[in-house]
Amino acid sequence: MGAMTFQYTKTDTHYVQYYSEGAWEEGMLINDDFLKMPAMATVLHYGQEAFEGLKAFRRKDGKVQIFRPYENAKRFQLSCGYLLMPEVEIEAFVQAVIKTVKANLKYVPPYGSGGALYIRPYMIGVGQTLAPMPSSRYLFGVIVTPVGALFKGALKPVDLLVSDYDRVAPQGTGQYKIGGNYAASLFAQHLARQKGYDDCLFLDPATHKKIEEVGAANFFGITKDNIYISPNSPSILKSITNMSLKYLAETSLRMKISSDDIDIDALDHLVEAGACGTAAVITPIRSLCHQEKVHVFPTQDEAGPVTQKLYKLLTGIQTGDVADPDHWTTLVE
Ligand code: PLP
Ligand code: COI
Repeated sequence: MGAMTFQYTKTDTHYVQYYSEGAWEEGMLINDDFLKMPAMATVLHYGQEAFEGLKAFRRKDGKVQIFRPYENAKRFQLSCGYLLMPEVEIEAFVQAVIKTVKANLKYVPPYGSGGALYIRPYMIGVGQTLAPMPSSRYLFGVIVTPVGALFKGALKPVDLLVSDYDRVAPQGTGQYKIGGNYAASLFAQHLARQKGYDDCLFLDPATHKKIEEVGAANFFGITKDNIYISPNSPSILKSITNMSLKYLAETSLRMKISSDDIDIDALDHLVEAGACGTAAVITPIRSLCHQEKVHVFPTQDEAGPVTQKLYKLLTGIQTGDVADPDHWTTLVE
């Protein structure tokens, strides 16, 4: 097994299922990780692609469980729907995920390693059309690969550059998990990394005054009044990790939750800040650089106390060490 970073390592088996003539064909497990499709496929020219990201974890008892797959299934339906792609039924999505994990159980990193099996369901238009129109043929697939965290590693704070560019438009595709949003983020991320930052942070595309999210993670803060605050906007992806943290902050830590705007020029009320997501897990934010001005959060090189508690609860539930609050995990029998 490779080093625990966020990168693709070939596993044994992939799931593929084709849709044509208005119906889903039987799904298959295949051993080849290359796809064959027409050079004129809609995914290749017009970006007709949606995806999901979720993880399977090894528990102390050796069993494997998947974190909140039903939530990913629901979001996948929204993303596919917006791109006029066919619907995968919730249970069919979850069963395809389970099947693929089951066929690759040996790649689920050991309990206590901090790693997980990353699961990447996706749908692409594979029918050919020259005019920009929806495809008539689709592929729904699932890939799995063992990973560590996306950023530096567990609870290591990062420095972010606030981007002058937008990943999405105000009434655009931000709430959907589609490939085009990530293509649109590449340049801004590249600029940030070139300047030595770990990633960029995007502002709201309408006014450029409010914090939206990181390229592949939501933003949250903890206020001086001990409120968990995370912005809400139609151009932010509705993170399942963030939804889970809100629940844990409210029920386990007895905190108040707020989805108020966070003004990029008024950050002094935040005592902690972080990025959260399936790949990012919970990554504390050390500083934000906005128009040459650097704001360093009070926790500096540490993860703040609330961030640490949330991290322990979340990762504990994921690996089965903390009681599952509400059917969040699905056991792979
Ligand atoms: N925001 C963006 C743009 C993402 O790509 C992701 C990753 O999926 C997230 C937020 C976090 O979402 P989730 O917690 O559902 O993985
Ligand atoms: C996630 O699944 O957490 C993602 O954001 C996917 C990503 C690394 C592009």
